[in-house]
Amino acid sequence: MNSLDDVHIIDLPKKIDPRGNLSFLESNSSIPFEMERVYWIYDVPGGETRGGHAFRQQKEFIIVLSGSLDIVVFDGEKEKKISLNRSYYGLYIPNGIWRRMENFSTNTLVVCLASTIFDEKDYIRDADEFIKYRNAR
Ligand code: TYD
Repeated sequence: MNSLDDVHIIDLPKKIDPRGNLSFLESNSSIPFEMERVYWIYDVPGGETRGGHAFRQQKEFIIVLSGSLDIVVFDGEKEKKISLNRSYYGLYIPNGIWRRMENFSTNTLVVCLASTIFDEKDYIRDADEFIKYRNAR
């Protein structure tokens, strides 16, 4: 079962160029999974929180392309807050970790690369159920 130690920032290549910088990533080599889906979050009103849940199987990599936010991760025992505000790195979150996104700045654009296609059954949306799920392992 994954713990908070498995949640980590991954730096991406950064091609610095007077014409404008460029970063990129590739499935499997830049991030530790093959991506099957991309989704993005935008137009978040001030004070909103998103993504309070865990996934049974889905791993993900979250990049803040513009703006800033905090991601709070929780493994059933400990909690950690990571601030993201650059487009040349992202946060890897393996499966089995609760996470929520908060403190969005105006016009923040977040892109999430996911290891699975969308499956509502993969979500654990209830915090008590998540703690039971963790303790059962
Ligand atoms: P959800 O992951 O629940 O976002 P949050 O936890 O921030 O509220 O997604 C919101 C809604 O969008 C939910 O009804 C599921 C749907 N959705 C998809 O249909 N496909 C997707 O790839 C994602 C991420 C969400």
